[in-house]
Amino acid sequence: MTDPRTEPSADPGPLLSVRGVDIAYRTGRRSRVTAVHGVSFDLHPGQSMALVGESGCGKTTLGLGLLRLLPRNGLVPAGEILFRRKDGSTADIRSLGAEELRRFRWSEAAMVFQGAMNAFNPVLRIEDHFLDTFRAHETGRPRRRAEIREESAHLLEMVRLDPARVLDAHPHELSGGMRQRALIALALALGPQLLILDEPTTALDLLTQRAIVERLSELREELRFSMVFITHDLGLAAELADRVGTMYAGRLIETGTTRDIFYRPRHPYTAALIDSVPPVSGGLVVPESLPGGPPGLASLPPGCSFAPRCRHARQVCGERRPELEVLHTRGDGLSHAAACLRSRELAAEGATRD
Ligand SMILES: Nc1ncnc2c1ncn2[C@@H]1O[C@H](COP(=O)(O)OP(=O)(O)OP(=O)(O)O)[C@@H](O)[C@H]1O
Ligand code: SF4
Ligand SMILES: [Mg+2]
Repeated sequence: MTDPRTEPSADPGPLLSVRGVDIAYRTGRRSRVTAVHGVSFDLHPGQSMALVGESGCGKTTLGLGLLRLLPRNGLVPAGEILFRRKDGSTADIRSLGAEELRRFRWSEAAMVFQGAMNAFNPVLRIEDHFLDTFRAHETGRPRRRAEIREESAHLLEMVRLDPARVLDAHPHELSGGMRQRALIALALALGPQLLILDEPTTALDLLTQRAIVERLSELREELRFSMVFITHDLGLAAELADRVGTMYAGRLIETGTTRDIFYRPRHPYTAALIDSVPPVSGGLVVPESLPGGPPGLASLPPGCSFAPRCRHARQVCGERRPELEVLHTRGDGLSHAAACLRSRELAAEGATRD
């Protein structure tokens, strides 16, 4: 019989637990705008979550806030960002000191930014970027350059790049797709448990995009890291993510498994986002566009922020702010939640589709 004290627990719990996080930007001496409001979600080891939503809804802000990479005028005035560290302890990222934060980034959680060119130092060769990253996190005797070069070459091969060509190149000598792959290799250098990717393939042609997404998917299987994938592209979200979170005006307004979100959206905004994508097969269908634009951060309407654009809005929607409410929990514990006052009613009418 196995000793229950030594048997590994089947569910070690979430890797990342985000609880009621607000993120704001100071816009003047006494003014600030809140770009992310009360966001909560869990990410389990090996899970991948896509964050989708229109431009300006707070996706990048949330990604940066999770790793405390916000610009100087950004702050996280409320909430908890609980992360299960490699040593098994749990830390609130908000309260890590500068040195601990430096060690946490790259080795436990890394972020790949949208513009790969901006993430590299243009005067350094790709090998120097690897060297700096490894050296900055070395605790014992410094490793030899040749040893680091060999490990960097292995990482570049993992993202299907030719190390002989790439290691000695400067960033501008590589194509956009190669730079983005090199950045992913660099982000994986110290074996982080969490990778946050912000629109990593948006600027790339479709074939390059596809190749990178396929490789990312394989790497996640091989290395078992968790992923937060920020994207405008619902197709990529469907392909890469186990779970999807829809953001609107700084709030997470629907979360669920990728299947639930795409086949049974329960928030009219998610349904509208999905309807705005042209189908790839079948007859010619004109996708439905969503009228108007998201509200400004400084002038959010009372009640539901989506009400001015929602064709299902009723008086109550302008009076009461909907909270993210769990509608359904599956046998494996994954839930589907939406922040819509009429979600159940609309689902019963078939208005958000089934
Ligand atoms: N440094 C900043 N100072 C003030 N406001 C900012 C700053 N950075 C972002 N914002 C505001 O925060 C809001 C959210 O921006 P964010 O970049 O997170 O959106 P996003 O969802 O990533 O958009 P996109 O899809 O265009 O990348 C926007 O209204 C933006 O204007
Ligand atoms: S709460 Fe009302 S306005 Fe908001 S999404 Fe639901 S039906 Fe539309
Ligand atoms: Mg962004």
